Amino acid sequence: MQHEVPKTKWKSTGNQGWEKSNLNGAGYEEAMASMKLMGLTERKPVIAGNWKMNKTKAETREFVEAFKAMDLDEGVEKILIAPYTDLDTLVEGLAGTDIGAGAENVHYEGSGAFTGEVSLDMLKEIGVGYCVVGHSERRQYFGETNKTCALKLKKIFADSDIVPILCVGEKLQVREHGRENEFVGEQVEEALLGLTVEDVRKMIIAYEPIWAIGTGETATDEQAEDMCAVIRKKVYGMFGAETAAVVRIQYGGSVKPENIKGLMAQEDIDGALVGGASLEPASFEKIVDYNRE
Ligand code: PGA
Repeated sequence: MQHEVPKTKWKSTGNQGWEKSNLNGAGYEEAMASMKLMGLTERKPVIAGNWKMNKTKAETREFVEAFKAMDLDEGVEKILIAPYTDLDTLVEGLAGTDIGAGAENVHYEGSGAFTGEVSLDMLKEIGVGYCVVGHSERRQYFGETNKTCALKLKKIFADSDIVPILCVGEKLQVREHGRENEFVGEQVEEALLGLTVEDVRKMIIAYEPIWAIGTGETATDEQAEDMCAVIRKKVYGMFGAETAAVVRIQYGGSVKPENIKGLMAQEDIDGALVGGASLEPASFEKIVDYNRE
């Protein structure tokens, strides 16, 4: 059966995966097994701390000084994501280290009458390397939708080298009705629609079940792994095997020093997006250095 491509305002440029989409992911296991044999599934772990609406500039400075003095695993990509007002302090403090700085949001228009919003050029000038798109708190409290996520991703890729971290995840009711795979699959599909394979290979996708965020209740390793595999399969269906093999997928939701190792041991989990436990250098360091005893 021919899958109907959902309506999009973007025209095909020739390499957009959705044109030749296989949205049910037929042939996924075999394709991933051959990608593994070719060594394409060796993905660099990426651990990001999302401070949300926490820390002043002085507190940012204090955190950065303590954190960068720690003996951090060089094999892990490390990112600190902070409120807009902290970003210049963060970028300045992290200069010369291998720790990246990220914003929590961006607007999809280049400029204009959008009181309270921040544009991509503003972030580029500060020099952030990453930007969160579609965090569940933005979706829940500020009206962010799959459509606005798609516009933001499109803008970021068109006009910057910033790496977006797209967040997806279901509410408890959705899981209770057994609809979580379908729901998250749809979020991924609608947000990535219109991107190119090059875009998707660069980005990070974070699976954050809403029922696990800030609640202390982490998804089990198995629940987290299952959904990260669903997301990878969706990417495979839209963009093909190689893109699915290289795209990095994080888990987020009450990640702590005590549970990071089990999560990172899962095949399709390549990192973590950490809220509460990233606010103190000592606990975030333990998460980043999960590989050390
Ligand atoms: P949490 O937040 O680790 O405090 O649950 C995760 C997130 O929302 O990114």
